[in-house]
Amino acid sequence: MARVAFLGMGVMGYPMAGHLKNKGGHEVTVYNRTTAKAEKWATEYGGDHAPTPAEAARDKDFVFACVGNDDDLRSITLGENGAFAAMKKGAIFIDNTTASAEVARELAAEAEKRGFSFLDAPVSGGQAGAENGVLTVMCGGEQEVFDRAKPVIDAYARMVGLMGPVGAGQLTKMINQICIAGLVQGLAEGIHFGKKAGLDIEKVVEVISKGAAGSWQMENRYKTMNEGKYDFGFAVDWMRKDLGICLEEANRNGAKLPVTALVDQFYKEVQAMGGNRWDTSSLLARLEK
Ligand SMILES: NC(=O)c1ccc[n+]([C@@H]2O[C@H](COP(=O)([O-])OP(=O)(O)OC[C@H]3O[C@@H](n4cnc5c(N)ncnc54)[C@H](OP(=O)(O)O)[C@@H]3O)[C@@H](O)[C@H]2O)c1
Repeated sequence: MARVAFLGMGVMGYPMAGHLKNKGGHEVTVYNRTTAKAEKWATEYGGDHAPTPAEAARDKDFVFACVGNDDDLRSITLGENGAFAAMKKGAIFIDNTTASAEVARELAAEAEKRGFSFLDAPVSGGQAGAENGVLTVMCGGEQEVFDRAKPVIDAYARMVGLMGPVGAGQLTKMINQICIAGLVQGLAEGIHFGKKAGLDIEKVVEVISKGAAGSWQMENRYKTMNEGKYDFGFAVDWMRKDLGICLEEANRNGAKLPVTALVDQFYKEVQAMGGNRWDTSSLLARLEK
């Protein structure tokens, strides 16, 4: 059993912290900017909550975070009452936010100066993966740090991998999002075409999902796409944040991402349709408007 803090009680962080408490059996203290959510968590799981990231992080062996973007992460670590000033020597900060590889390297250097370690550990698997404790976790950091953190991370994960040095977890998550972007647009075009052709989409997917066109997105999203339902899932705003990170990194490393850049613009149009919080499968709504 370890002493653990979790910063950020959002859609993902709330259930992840719950698994650290119930499945992992750890002593967990949570922090959230909007205090009501931290209080709700503490009541539901019987853990503690703290009013600032620093107070939550003080004397903990592992401090987890899952907030929105690079700036949010800088704010809860290095900002006023940030966690880094209170971290104990030898502790590990594990960041589950989807952020840039740059901010991971920046925070890891800051952590080293202060005598503790940093792992970037973005996740894949969505809200359902977080609630069921079966996330895929892509880590960047030192082997020895990873080996100490993995048994704790296991509480909310089905697959935990060390991808390379600090930043490699975020780079792997970028690949994940690049692979999803083009695929979802392809799926949207397939369903759109099928409807125009007057075919029964249920029947089409039942057959083609078993062949080479099958994918997680097809299995899990075709039904709601066919019904025009997008009010759930992974928000377009988050996807645009992620694709922005991918495109910036590609500018640096020279990778060519023509389809990713195009799909990013399609998501911009979905946002203009009022779809900021719609699931990423709403690329079909853009074709149907
Ligand atoms: N949702 C998914 O399916 C999914 C899947 C994989 C990865 N992710 C990634 O996981 C991260 C979190 O996603 P989510 O869906 O859990 O988001 P969310 O529900 O919007 O939660 C974001 C959390 O971060 C906190 N926060 C944001 N800015 C902050 C700041 N400046 N200072 C302090 N706290 C701040 C929010 O506090 P308040 O409650 O006060 O707003 C909230 O607890 C994102 O990087 C996202 O890209 C999400």
